[in-house]
Amino acid sequence: MNGTGKFDYEIYLNTDKLLACQKNFDEFCNRDEMQFQIVHQIEELWLKLINYTLLDIDDFIADCNTHRVVTLFRRVNIALQLMVDQLLLLETMSPKEYQQIRLQLGNGSGQESPGFRTVTKMPQYLWDSFVKHYLQADNLTVEKIYNSEYTHSDAYVVAESLLEFDELFQKFRYHHIQLIYRSIGMDAKSLKGRSVELLRKGAKTRFFPELWDIRYQMTDSWGSENGVVRESIGQG
Ligand code: HEM
Repeated sequence: MNGTGKFDYEIYLNTDKLLACQKNFDEFCNRDEMQFQIVHQIEELWLKLINYTLLDIDDFIADCNTHRVVTLFRRVNIALQLMVDQLLLLETMSPKEYQQIRLQLGNGSGQESPGFRTVTKMPQYLWDSFVKHYLQADNLTVEKIYNSEYTHSDAYVVAESLLEFDELFQKFRYHHIQLIYRSIGMDAKSLKGRSVELLRKGAKTRFFPELWDIRYQMTDSWGSENGVVRESIGQG
């Protein structure tokens, strides 16, 4: 099943090592464990690609190269969506089989994921670059690009890419919590002894709060200028 490792395809992709990254078949505690390992490993690879691409995006933001920024954010955001979708695979695992797998994990926790820990550090750098090169350099603010001077400008388009990234990351966290509810239950304690409810707090964290706040600020200001409650548009 693992091939010979001698064809160019196998050499280039390092399939020898890649396919040896899972336990041997006779070491799996049940028939679901390989899926559990593979899904986590693939998620780490997507996170590696995401982090690598975010570094490139940061450089292109510094150059105000909007086309590159948007294209690369599209790549990041597709990878994030794949991360969300892949969680579904783990829902095919029964609660009992997960309990058996859980015994194999030692004290392991997703909090130790190198990819996840890196990705949560990236947004501050991206935001600082965006503010410096797309806003301050042109005397703009978030309010101006979304509302008072809205032109669907480059700054606006980059801001929306940042927001989409933020939204998809929250989506991952939300679906991950749903997966936990489904597999170990709502009030379960994690292997680190903490209630999974603490993850809910993380799921509410926004990387770019200003880009979310502008929405309600516009609703408030448009409401105060045009009336919070409107006349009916119906006849009579
Ligand atoms: C049945 C499947 C899963 C279960 C039951 C599960 C369970 C948990 C629990 C209980 C925590 C809380 C952390 C703690 O205090 O120890 C956690 C955190 C985490 N898990 Fe999972 N997880 C599953 C699948 C996954 C997958 C596929 C990923 C893919 C990357 C993942 C990534 C993470 C991350 C990144 C955290 C830290 C999140 C944060 O701090 O906001 N988990 N997981």
